[in-house]
Amino acid sequence: MSSNKSVMITGASTGIGYELAKLFAQDKYNLVIVGRNKQRLTEVAEEFTVKYSCSVTVIQKDLSNQNAAIDLFHEVSASGFEFDILVNNAGIGSCGQFHETDLCKNIEMIELNITSLTILTKLVSAKMVTKGGGKILNVASTGAYMPGPYFAVYYASKAYVLSFSEAIANELRDFGVVISVLCPGATISEFANRAGKTEVKNAMSAKTVANVAYKGLMNNERIIIPGLANKCGVLLAKLMPRQVTANIIGKVQKKLFEDFRKDIKNNRNMS
Ligand SMILES: NC(=O)c1ccc[n+]([C@@H]2O[C@H](COP(=O)([O-])OP(=O)(O)OC[C@H]3O[C@@H](n4cnc5c(N)ncnc54)[C@H](OP(=O)(O)O)[C@@H]3O)[C@@H](O)[C@H]2O)c1
Repeated sequence: MSSNKSVMITGASTGIGYELAKLFAQDKYNLVIVGRNKQRLTEVAEEFTVKYSCSVTVIQKDLSNQNAAIDLFHEVSASGFEFDILVNNAGIGSCGQFHETDLCKNIEMIELNITSLTILTKLVSAKMVTKGGGKILNVASTGAYMPGPYFAVYYASKAYVLSFSEAIANELRDFGVVISVLCPGATISEFANRAGKTEVKNAMSAKTVANVAYKGLMNNERIIIPGLANKCGVLLAKLMPRQVTANIIGKVQKKLFEDFRKDIKNNRNMS
């Protein structure tokens, strides 16, 4: 039995997006799941359909191309899908010294983390206003609260997501549209490896992060920060001079980046 509620989730093939999609599936939402890896998304759809008897539509899109976000919205709208909830979760990072990181990767990150998120939020929120309500969850990061040397474009992109989401949450509340923003700290997923850094030792599980996010979204919380340590980190960042925070974050990210490069070198030497 399928509920009449519908949710579209970007980046649902792995990590936080996958765990969030599972929670919606368990609650019998009709799901549209989006990502680049069609095979993985199809496996996820099969898993949810069998286990939770929900309806799952797979859409393969590379959202680092802004046209893909526009196409996605029109394709999904044309199918008659009702956007009760949108989760803008897809995101990437790229670690390293800014002047040395790949320019294409920087632009890809901005297009995915900022541009596509903005496009989908705009088109879907307008639809939600017309029908009198809905919820959007935008995934930022605790990094949104601080400058992030060695991860500069990523932290800045998440600062945009946080500021943008808080602003439109204020505008849209009178129209019955709830905007929540999730700010996870380090989380175990594919993210660190893809970003070119080692995983933080005490990172949270994606499942825990998704559980907190789901509850927060259902309770219309505006800013959702999973875990006490992350809440304290954000509080400290608000209190400390930004230059001091930048020094601390820079040391941490530099070490994660260098450890990753060492691991790659060691693995090459062993093979
Ligand atoms: N992990 C952390 O430490 C952490 C901390 C704070 C915030 N976050 C944020 O949490 C969100 C989820 O990350 P995660 O940790 O779950 O990482 P993840 O396991 O790497 O998941 C990222 C998801 O985004 C999708 N994606 C990546 N590039 C895409 C593109 N160009 N077009 C469409 N989909 C794309 C991936 O699917 P495909 O590969 O199939 O495209 C995947 O499903 C991101 O916004 C990230 O910035 C993560």
